Amino acid sequence: MAFRKILTDNDPKLYKVSRPVENFDDRLFMLLDDMAETMYKAEGAGLAACQVGILKRVCVIDCGDGLIELINPVIISTEGEQGGYEGCLSFPGKRGYVVRPQKVVVRAFDRNGELKEYTAADMFARAVMHETDHLDGKVYTRLITEPPEGFDEENGEEDEE
Ligand code: NI
Repeated sequence: MAFRKILTDNDPKLYKVSRPVENFDDRLFMLLDDMAETMYKAEGAGLAACQVGILKRVCVIDCGDGLIELINPVIISTEGEQGGYEGCLSFPGKRGYVVRPQKVVVRAFDRNGELKEYTAADMFARAVMHETDHLDGKVYTRLITEPPEGFDEENGEEDEE
């Protein structure tokens, strides 16, 4: 495994639409392993392949309940709303208040090419939305809004993804 450089700010690769994975091979496994290592070293809760310069529809997430690898993920449904602070490893030191669905169902392949479905809530749902947005070249900064008056910042989620 190897740490990969995380692209930041205005790097054009952060704003491109990534391509679906077609081959579930050693190259993919290496990418996934490197992405996990990079995410953990950077103390993030999620990382998309475009953030390490690879325009493939791959992301990794760990919100504290273990590593999840999503390949060619598709959002099946969303439900509710949650407002909270989030950040991104590609925008170090920055954060912003973003409204996301409370719950999301996502379908994705695992590294063995098996189709899986996850029902994500709260922070996991936020991470799934944040990471799948990355695969379409969308960064969270475009979604930042003012928090409602009296919003308790301490209880707002703050994750680098
Ligand atoms: Ni991010």
